[in-house]
Amino acid sequence: MRMKWVVCVGVFWIFSTSLANVATDICNLKPKDLPLEPVCIHRNPNIPDEEEAGTEMPETVPGSTNPRVWELSKANGYFALALFKQLSKGKSEDKNIFMSPFSISTAFAMTKLGACNSTLEQIMQVFEFDTIKEKTSDQVHFFFAKLNCRLYRKTHNSVELVSANRLFGEKTFEFNENYQNISEMVYGAKLLPLNFKEKPELSRQRINEWISEKTNKRINNTLPEGSIDVNTILVLVNTIYFKGQWKSKFNRQHSHKAKFHVSETDSCEVQMMYQENTYNYGKFPEDNVKVLEMFYNGEGISMVIVLPDEKKKLAEVEENLTLKKLSNWLNNMKNKQVAVQFPRFRIEDSFSLKENLQAMGLKDIFSAEHASLPGMVASNENDLYVSDAFHKAFLEVNEEGSVAAAATTVQFTGRSLNLNREVFVANRPFLLFIRETTINTLIFVGRVANPCDR
Ligand SMILES: *[C@@H]1O[C@H](CO)[C@@H](O)[C@H](O)[C@H]1NC(C)=O
Ligand SMILES: *[C@@H]1O[C@H](CO)[C@@H](O)[C@H](O)[C@H]1NC(C)=O
Ligand SMILES: *[C@@H]1O[C@H](CO)[C@@H](O)[C@H](O)[C@H]1NC(C)=O
Ligand SMILES: *[C@@H]1O[C@H](CO)[C@@H](O)[C@H](O)[C@H]1NC(C)=O
Repeated sequence: MRMKWVVCVGVFWIFSTSLANVATDICNLKPKDLPLEPVCIHRNPNIPDEEEAGTEMPETVPGSTNPRVWELSKANGYFALALFKQLSKGKSEDKNIFMSPFSISTAFAMTKLGACNSTLEQIMQVFEFDTIKEKTSDQVHFFFAKLNCRLYRKTHNSVELVSANRLFGEKTFEFNENYQNISEMVYGAKLLPLNFKEKPELSRQRINEWISEKTNKRINNTLPEGSIDVNTILVLVNTIYFKGQWKSKFNRQHSHKAKFHVSETDSCEVQMMYQENTYNYGKFPEDNVKVLEMFYNGEGISMVIVLPDEKKKLAEVEENLTLKKLSNWLNNMKNKQVAVQFPRFRIEDSFSLKENLQAMGLKDIFSAEHASLPGMVASNENDLYVSDAFHKAFLEVNEEGSVAAAATTVQFTGRSLNLNREVFVANRPFLLFIRETTINTLIFVGRVANPCDR
């Protein structure tokens, strides 16, 4: 009988994002210091190898960024938007979407380590790892660790960005030791043996409790009933938790009830926060959007809001969205005085990653018949497959915390004086991205179509 394996990605996000907790020593290592020999290698035949391509980079790499880390970050960005579009297809326009594509890429990079044949090829394609140069794609784990080091460095007293990874394995089963070692070294994911065979339900509860604990109880019940059974062999969990404070907080006293136009015919009531301040801002009439960036404390992490012009449908903006377009917007924004109205909200989203990834072409890894993951088992036998994969994410946005102090009041009084200010009223569906700003790593991606309390 084929052995089942479940992947689950739990994400929690409160009013900002959260990330990596990699063993710090890896941050100083070089690729040659790490024994990252994948069991199998897949090369995209259409990507020139490094010698042929020379040292030329197609786009400028932001200062002090390892070019390989930059390539990986872009690959993750392509995947993020592709997955977002896939989710958008399956949901009506008035439904919220929220997820951490970065943590999903991380979870599946961990499976790439043991994958071969078409299973490997599909991981490389769907996660866009094959858009990066050969040597990077072989070393993708190493550069994931570097990316995590980079993101983790961003944290600040008032910002928490934490990710936790773990493997839960059937205790009678023997996993490949090298796989376990690399997984622990690169992703901080230790293997914890559980008794899936005799106590599947108890094991499911333990995993859910672990996720709940790692996400400050924001994410409960990630693994639904029945997702673990006596055939389960391995459960791979990746959690991400972010808690941030706005660099410039909203004053609660300026929040007011307002209408949010869920659709042309439907509206609901929401608490609308208000602040006038200097923001990174851009208007792109050719694309029918306004884009606003609000920073979190601690440098380098921000929320980007893409608001369609009035009478333009968000669905159309979504359809036209590419990583290139998003980067262009971000590169062409300027500091401007903006009067911002932005809803206070809380959204939760969960979905079967399996269905969505299968639709995107990741098929074999989920197939008892075709999966090839020899690098993960001690015997190197080809009898492991991924039975399911879950993702759950949560986001809360508010004025935050200690009442926005004097600065906000001053900005508020400036309101009637500044006739050049821009007005940004997020009272209709919009897209949001929580990103690392120098290399544009999309940590969270969402659509807020209905921010009102259910
Ligand atoms: C899959 O990869 C293994 C090497 O790990 C190889 O022996 C086997 O022939 C491959 N199977 C297919 C169908 O390509
Ligand atoms: C894995 O790590 C353990 C403990 O550090 C070590 O003893 C063992 O040799 C390593 N195994 C492999 C295959 O690298
Ligand atoms: C998760 O469960 C804990 C304890 O049972 C509870 O305190 C918490 O509010 C729950 N979280 C959510 C988001 O429902
Ligand atoms: C999307 O692209 C199409 C074709 O280029 C264009 O006609 C349409 O106006 C665009 N929609 C938006 C909202 O930008």
